Amino acid sequence: MRGAQITGWGMALPDKVVTNADYESQLDTNDAWIVERTGIKERRHGGTTSQLAIEAANRALARAGRRGAEVDLLVLATTTPDQTVPATSSWVHHQLGCRGAAFDLNAACAGFVYGLVTAVALLDAGHERALLIGSDTLSQITDQQDRNTAVLFGDGAGAVVIEATEGEPLVLAHDLGLDGSLTPILYCDRGGYIYMEGREVFRKAVRATVESAERVLKQADVTAEDIALFVPHQANIRIIDAVGQRLGIDPARYAVCLDHTGNTSAASCAIALAEAADASRLNDGDLILFSGFGAGMTWASAVVRWRGASMTPSEASDGAAG
Ligand code: ACO
Repeated sequence: MRGAQITGWGMALPDKVVTNADYESQLDTNDAWIVERTGIKERRHGGTTSQLAIEAANRALARAGRRGAEVDLLVLATTTPDQTVPATSSWVHHQLGCRGAAFDLNAACAGFVYGLVTAVALLDAGHERALLIGSDTLSQITDQQDRNTAVLFGDGAGAVVIEATEGEPLVLAHDLGLDGSLTPILYCDRGGYIYMEGREVFRKAVRATVESAERVLKQADVTAEDIALFVPHQANIRIIDAVGQRLGIDPARYAVCLDHTGNTSAASCAIALAEAADASRLNDGDLILFSGFGAGMTWASAVVRWRGASMTPSEASDGAAG
């Protein structure tokens, strides 16, 4: 049986920290409102989608003990490509020295989970080693004068190396979907800024995420109790709490990074996973539930079997150096 395994992970955030206090001085908003309504305390701005992608990918490759030349499939999930053509993955592929295929995938904030399912399917079809990256620079398409959106989004990237094995499948069950009729509640025209009907997105996101997660738990023949780590899209802590409560997953099992990253779109699940793995929160055999949702509206869930222990950053750098 052909299986797959995540062998490396990494993340990258720009240096510039933008705190809620920074917005207080420019907009009619305040730290208490932002923290209470979203859970976000700060986010990072800067860099380009390809720069952040390359940085996160290099860390993931180092952790896997691999070189770019050993990658024969690169999937870059992004909503904010550096240019329209060619795909941003072309430059990333070149800079990392990868071989084989590379393409961008736009499923908005569900992009990383869409990419995970896509990469694993292509490994099953014969590719050997995939680099899956979620990278977004939403600050470039957010009107910094619009308090409805400015405070929510940040820039960042996360990456995983996924290798084909002779062992078990990596993804035990998945559910990908979308409802294109909901385009008007969350969109960004070319050259424009994100428009969002926040309350409506919130309502739809909770429902779609819960229903999708329930489908994958059922397909994988597991219950919420069996999930060691819940890695949801990082849009709003109240969305994560509402979904977690409905599914019966307690907060101790959430992977959350939005307090210091904001919503990084296609990067968010990858960053949350990388931080959890660096914090040694994953053990061999653990089940992870990924849930993404985003503009489209897209949704994506996957139940994943983690193989190998996760390591502390110092253990990892020792390993990478050796
Ligand atoms: N500071 C202060 N007040 C604000 C701010 C702010 N930064 N932003 C909005 N408000 C105001 C609104 O204008 C509104 O004022 P009004 O009542 O006078 O009209 C009031 O706060 C309450 O607005 P609500 O929409 O009811 O606030 P809510 O509790 O729903 O929180 C929020 C708003 C945070 C946007 C929430 O709805 C949300 O998180 N929605 C989902 C967003 C999301 O997930 N987006 C990502 C999608 S993924 C992608 O693909 C990009």
